[in-house]
Amino acid sequence: MQIFRDLPSLRAALASLRSSGGRVALVPTMGALHAGHMALIDEASRQAEHVVASIFVNPTQFGPNEDLSAYPRRETQDAMMLEAAGVAILWAPSVPVMYPDGFSTSVHVTGVSDGLESKWRPGHFDGVATVVAKLFGQVRPDVACFGEKDYQQLALIRRMVRDLDLGVGIVGVPTQRDADGLALSSRNAYLGPDERVRAMALPETLVVAGEGISSGEDVPAVLSWSTRYLIDSGFDSVDYVALCDAETLKPLDRLDRPARLLVAARLGGTRLIDNIPVNP
Ligand code: PAF
Repeated sequence: MQIFRDLPSLRAALASLRSSGGRVALVPTMGALHAGHMALIDEASRQAEHVVASIFVNPTQFGPNEDLSAYPRRETQDAMMLEAAGVAILWAPSVPVMYPDGFSTSVHVTGVSDGLESKWRPGHFDGVATVVAKLFGQVRPDVACFGEKDYQQLALIRRMVRDLDLGVGIVGVPTQRDADGLALSSRNAYLGPDERVRAMALPETLVVAGEGISSGEDVPAVLSWSTRYLIDSGFDSVDYVALCDAETLKPLDRLDRPARLLVAARLGGTRLIDNIPVNP
């Protein structure tokens, strides 16, 4: 695996990779890789002959209350995992390479980025959209893989690619879960043993609520008991439990189209998110 930190070297390596034929898949990450990321790499290898992974802890998607300096950085270990998984190129730019002096552009996707995470993380999705647009411009992949766990991010990237004619196929990869159903996330490492046990109420609530909604129960009633159930199960607060249109993420109070049930809740200092599909 080749590791690049400057754009001219990355471009030269990509040109030589492409000259051998085959498609290029990109897996953008912020590092601290776990099995969820490796499932994205596996899917990318099914989608294309050449896999490029990026590691860039993107400062512009961190809010003022989120600690950028505390974000885990484990590039040596990450690089070993990516190499073992057959990744051809690791793109690991520094902040000045990604955002050189004078950088002045921001990509804002309306609609799909309103509500849900945006309410709690203002500006987050402008940072995500801008850096993903840049990564697409730098690598020019045929396809790119993103986890369904960050469902609003995935929906926003699909919208941006359509709106800006970026010509990248976006592949959503189902959420990877522990045996008790908890979605894999770098944030799970912050949970104490007791919190980790209580955390499984999150996927449990989604499954039971999703079944209730699919079988015709009143949506607002299900959302309201789900919130109560999470608090009764030991969550400290619930930011949202929402049923939304699977594509536009507009809130729904009836299941009349493919939908997504999304939740964000806090256990001590840890904020967990998860979602599942719900279909009529
Ligand atoms: O999902 C992530 O890890 C990040 O939001 C992404 C897509 C790599 C952009 O920084």
